[in-house]
Amino acid sequence: MPRMSETRNLLVVAHNPSPNTRKLVDATLRGARHEDIAGVDTRYLPPLEAGSDDVLWADAIILGTTENFGYMSGALKDFFDRIYYPCLERTEALPFACWIRAGLDGTGTRIAIGKITTGLKWKPVQETMILHGDYRDEFEEQCEELGMLMAASLEARII
Ligand SMILES: Cc1cc2nc3c(=O)[nH]c(=O)nc-3n(C[C@H](O)[C@H](O)[C@H](O)COP(=O)(O)O)c2cc1C
Repeated sequence: MPRMSETRNLLVVAHNPSPNTRKLVDATLRGARHEDIAGVDTRYLPPLEAGSDDVLWADAIILGTTENFGYMSGALKDFFDRIYYPCLERTEALPFACWIRAGLDGTGTRIAIGKITTGLKWKPVQETMILHGDYRDEFEEQCEELGMLMAASLEARII
């Protein structure tokens, strides 16, 4: 049982191959590291650099990906391929949230991530955000709010 004074850990694993997706990651981290939130350590890693130790470190996780060919990015898929069995049965009920940046759709990615996270028995904090269509600045606001929500929920021990 963690002590009340213990730092909570938030892991952000997001693929950002374009200027717009880099802005989405920045916005997510800006929210998560908001100055009004204390006692939360936020770690960002691109999917190819994140591993099972990072997931085991985390008290909650935010995933971010582009949709490529109707599926999550190969980088995020590689992350899941590597962490799935080492984390299975060790990260049950891990709270998570996800954003998907898609040109048009995003559904295939949402379904695929849903299946994998259901297998891991992770707990969705909110519905997956699909940021699709032409890029809009409001996507950054949504990502910032998501980062803040996750960090504030960890701080308040709601999750
Ligand atoms: C190889 C490739 C495949 C893509 N496939 C899809 C797709 O299946 N569905 C979709 O909605 N967008 C697709 N896109 C669009 C990307 O999701 C989009 O380029 C990415 O999210 C970056 O968006 P941005 O230009 O706003 O940074 C694809 C892009 C690339 C480069």
